[in-house]
Amino acid sequence: MDPRLDDNLRWWDERVPLHVASDFYDVAGFLGGAETLRPFELEEVGNVVGRSLAHLQCHFGLDTLSWARHGARVTGLDFSEPAVTAARELAERTEIEAEFVTADVYDAVTALGGRRFEIVYTGLGALNWLPDLERWARVVIELIEPGGVLYLSEFHPLSGIFGDDELTVENDYFAAVDGVRIDEGGTYADLGASTDHNLTLEWNHGLGETVSALLSAGLQLELLHEHEHTLFPRWPFLEPSAGGYHRMPPGRPRLPLMYSLRARAPQAA
Ligand SMILES: C[S@@+](CC[C@H](N)C(=O)[O-])C[C@H]1O[C@@H](n2cnc3c(N)ncnc32)[C@H](O)[C@@H]1O
Repeated sequence: MDPRLDDNLRWWDERVPLHVASDFYDVAGFLGGAETLRPFELEEVGNVVGRSLAHLQCHFGLDTLSWARHGARVTGLDFSEPAVTAARELAERTEIEAEFVTADVYDAVTALGGRRFEIVYTGLGALNWLPDLERWARVVIELIEPGGVLYLSEFHPLSGIFGDDELTVENDYFAAVDGVRIDEGGTYADLGASTDHNLTLEWNHGLGETVSALLSAGLQLELLHEHEHTLFPRWPFLEPSAGGYHRMPPGRPRLPLMYSLRARAPQAA
């Protein structure tokens, strides 16, 4: 693995048990049958019954297992061993058939034995951990069956340019080649948690950069939606809204807070 990602791995390994125990991820709700996938994702991916689906950067597998509940044959991949172990435990507890593999996403083709999938699914805080999106897109297309799709659902990179309290522009929109070093305790799922490994290296990949990487790899863009809601209170003034989303309150400028895209691999010649 790229040694620049070592701190990120330590950060994630330490957060896994905190996340499994958090209200944010609500494992008890999941065990009780709650849906973790967002309505727009279910609609934009469509029927998954009997279809093979690889979930890249699957964390501890809640969304992967949710796709299985909808009928997909799922494989999750994540570089954090504790995340993969927790995902396997959840699969066992819920008696959901699923495979989980520990690997760096850049090694996914080898780690998944050269297999191809009808759907590759990823996102929701995934791309910001990856230094090189062109390389990532070349991995993604190698994982998709001819005619299959990538479905990506992500936080909008525009929201990354602002400070955490107000809409003041504090950060670059464009990803710095060397990434941005962040030193922050706790986690988005448990802000007050006490943690030892707090350094990360992250990249705010712009929308144009992401789409261009996918097109360069040979994928064909089918849909690109920008959403005015997000999944967590990105700023203190966001308001909770139906479906568990958070939105700008009336009177504030409406900004894209998430986006989703579907891109198709060409049919075999
Ligand atoms: C925020 S989570 C992904 C979102 C997920 N849908 C969720 O919230 O449950 C980011 C995941 O990316 C994984 N990750 C980060 N860098 C990675 C890499 N280079 N290869 C594989 N997994 C990576 C982390 O271990 C973490 O589980």
